[in-house]
Amino acid sequence: MDDGVENLGVEAAKAELDRLHEALSAADIAYHQQDMPEITDAEYDAMKQRYLAIEVAFPQLKRADSLGEKVGAAPAEGFAKVTHAIPMLSLGNAFSDEDVEEFVQRGRKFFGREKDLQLDFTAEPKIDGLSASLRYENGVFVQGATRGDGAVGEDITANLETIADIPHKLKGSGWPEVIEIRGEVYMTHAQFQALNERSAATGGQIYVNPRNTAAGSLRQLDSSVTAQRNLKFFAYAWGFTSAPFAETQFEAVNKLADWGFAINPLMIRTASVADMLKHYHEIEVQRATLGYDIDGVVYKLDRLDLQQRWGFVARAPRWAIAHKFPAEQATTILEAIDIQVGRTGALTPVARLKPVTVGGVVVENATLHNEDEINRKDVRVGDTVVVQRAGDVIPQIVSVVDDEAHQAREKYVFPTICPACGSPAEREVNAKTGKLDVIRRCTGELVCPAQAVEQLKHFVSRNALDIDGLGDKQVTAFYEEGRILHAADIFTLAERDAKSLKRLKDQDGWGETSVKKLFAAIDARREPELDRFIFALGIRHVGETTAALFAKTYGTFEAFRAAAIAAAAHEGDAYESFLSVDGIGETVAQSVISFFGNERNQLALDALAAEVTPKEYVVRVSANSEVAGKTVVFTGSLEKMSRSEAKAMAERLGGKVSGSVSAKTDIVVAGPGAGSKLKKAEELGLEVLDEDGWLELVARS
Ligand code: IVH
Repeated sequence: MDDGVENLGVEAAKAELDRLHEALSAADIAYHQQDMPEITDAEYDAMKQRYLAIEVAFPQLKRADSLGEKVGAAPAEGFAKVTHAIPMLSLGNAFSDEDVEEFVQRGRKFFGREKDLQLDFTAEPKIDGLSASLRYENGVFVQGATRGDGAVGEDITANLETIADIPHKLKGSGWPEVIEIRGEVYMTHAQFQALNERSAATGGQIYVNPRNTAAGSLRQLDSSVTAQRNLKFFAYAWGFTSAPFAETQFEAVNKLADWGFAINPLMIRTASVADMLKHYHEIEVQRATLGYDIDGVVYKLDRLDLQQRWGFVARAPRWAIAHKFPAEQATTILEAIDIQVGRTGALTPVARLKPVTVGGVVVENATLHNEDEINRKDVRVGDTVVVQRAGDVIPQIVSVVDDEAHQAREKYVFPTICPACGSPAEREVNAKTGKLDVIRRCTGELVCPAQAVEQLKHFVSRNALDIDGLGDKQVTAFYEEGRILHAADIFTLAERDAKSLKRLKDQDGWGETSVKKLFAAIDARREPELDRFIFALGIRHVGETTAALFAKTYGTFEAFRAAAIAAAAHEGDAYESFLSVDGIGETVAQSVISFFGNERNQLALDALAAEVTPKEYVVRVSANSEVAGKTVVFTGSLEKMSRSEAKAMAERLGGKVSGSVSAKTDIVVAGPGAGSKLKKAEELGLEVLDEDGWLELVARS
């Protein structure tokens, strides 16, 4: 058990449990929904362990919404939900050889009566990707889902279909009529690097690590984007099967290979703990050269009948465990702390380090997160620090070496003035919690050159307006030369350049052709898609998914802007109706309202509106959607999906859902007990489907 948990008083334990609950929930959301980890896996694991330890020591404090019972985060909006027929499980962790020995010991004890029973285990790499469940019916891939919270995931069939390792039809024979294959979607280091190179060349975003990039790629609403990411898949487990198909884990996984799946070549089977640990240490040595990220080794009891008997705890099997690799660490000197100013004014401290090799990679910079973190670790410039890379996440400073020299150095004082513009930098009080925000922000907004430049970079970035040839480098240079100070200036650049004495074509790095190309690329974006445009504005808390929600809800930019302005003024129930947009919470709503309430932003938007006309929002649907443009009515009681799920399916495929049947209706989906609407549909001779018929249609589309 964790240090000191037993010694906590009940009050202190409760306070700590609540604090950890909040921190872990926030980390879950950052990791699973926004694909942006804010803490390292090792930090997460440490917090989770302590959380569980408190629950064990103080069972009376266990919360109804305990995170011990929960895997990952609830699914984000934007995809239809899929309820897993059999939940997607998590794994217990082992952090040392002793933990593994204890795990095997527990198994021996459980089956203790059967003295001669041999317990074989498989050992295989734990792939650091995203798990997915793939449903095959009669050997054909019909639906694929993310894990989500373990019980309900997201329907990402179209995206999974783009992965070459996922067969559309199973090969060979002997597969059950219905089988859910489970495994890990991941991105290779080579693909990750290539993507970052492509992105850098066009001034796009820098992706942090393969895992989160794979996650982001899977959650694209447009599957052609996923297709470009060249994701891979290893099959290692299964969920629902209509019939048994193997007796052991080893045999089962090899069958998955026969049916056309990629399986990890490093799986072994053994009855000896020594061999399991030997395999773990061998894989650890190979880790850096595998070409994809792994974060440990998974051991599974081999015989499936024994797995059944050993059973489950909460959300993890008793018969399997993940033996995690320790984070890779090294010691070096902290040479300086630089403060970077982000798009929303956040002051982020970056550690500049004397270069050091950590797990085969040279590290020169590390994140220090924020002011509180620096104080907590008491980091001082000149200190000897322990640096860690966990997975492929940005390196972290774990601790400082607390020697005499450290004590003699001056404490680091976090700036309260923005280093880029000299405006005061403040920490806001969070309206909900009443606590100080951890982030100190520059109050200069667009007066601050750092914020202005970052905003401009964001505006033209890949997932925003995506202007070719206008990358980070060009934006910075144009800002410094005064060519582009506001987003609207991008669109008047050509016109002003024609009259200028310092023509762009005569500048270093430019020529007649490249300038022409740039101006054409800018012109090509005068009618951007609405969701991209909203995302491009860089409103705090409005990421791509949220931007798409607004676009979908309001249809046009004018309608969105009017709704936000009305909400800001609290006209009638404008505020409530703004908040009632599915998936929009208080934080986002407040942020959007304050964005539109700002006069400078209004002026910037007016200037933009003179140059740019965002398109009306249309749902992007796959070419073979049989539902696109059609009006669908659901009637009767639906048994296989909720009504909102059915609606989301129709909308995702470009259909409209209506509550009443008329001559304008195209498809009527009738569940049991359908009455007058069904009758009317029959009278009108409309296409009527039952739930299965609808699901088949959705699967085809
Ligand atoms: S088995 C019933 N095998 O690890 C056991 N999981 O921490 C289900 N993972 O959700 C999982 N590689 O995303 C298994 N070889 C492997 C794995 C693996 C990666 C992931 C998977 C799971 C998570 C649990």
